[in-house]
Amino acid sequence: MRLFVALDLPYELIEQINTLTGGLAGVRWVTEENYHLTLRFIGEVPSHTAEEIDLALTGLRGKRLALGLAGVGCHEKAGRVTALWVGVARNPALEHLQTKIETALHRVGLPPDRRRFLPHITLARLDNTPPSKLAAWVQAHNLFRAGAVEISQFTLFSSRLGKEQSAYTAEADYPLA
Ligand code: 2AM
Repeated sequence: MRLFVALDLPYELIEQINTLTGGLAGVRWVTEENYHLTLRFIGEVPSHTAEEIDLALTGLRGKRLALGLAGVGCHEKAGRVTALWVGVARNPALEHLQTKIETALHRVGLPPDRRRFLPHITLARLDNTPPSKLAAWVQAHNLFRAGAVEISQFTLFSSRLGKEQSAYTAEADYPLA
């Protein structure tokens, strides 16, 4: 199965994020049930590894944290914008949780993820939207702020890739104390 660890978002944040979507042609907006904040992408693993991952995450002692959102941005690949996202306000507690998850998964034997943790919530995927339109959208929403709201669990999701949108399933939730 294809797995990743993420925060499912409380409805208060989803409602706020929804104010950002729409009004851009050629953009595939992520639907609200698919909003999430990835803490660690795992990828395809056999089921026995998935069980070990679940055990490791069950044993992790994480603390509740407050999550605030701040600003918007885009991912680019080879000079083309591929995604629009909402940013996360500076959050040492979230970074601490992410490090704990990384350590727990390393113990299970997963290779370390060397990319810097850049917390974000993907809002849209893009094919061919004119850059001028995107710049206007980013400018219009750069001062976006939402939260902070309490986060009391994190989740192991599986994903099935789809043509339009991937389908995510929450496999297990892990409480934060
Ligand atoms: P994204 O939203 O920025 O694309 C499920 O695919 C989640 O894992 C997404 O939130 C995705 O981030 C994230 N992710 C991180 N690295 C990934 C990778 N190499 N392939 C696919 N998804 C990845």
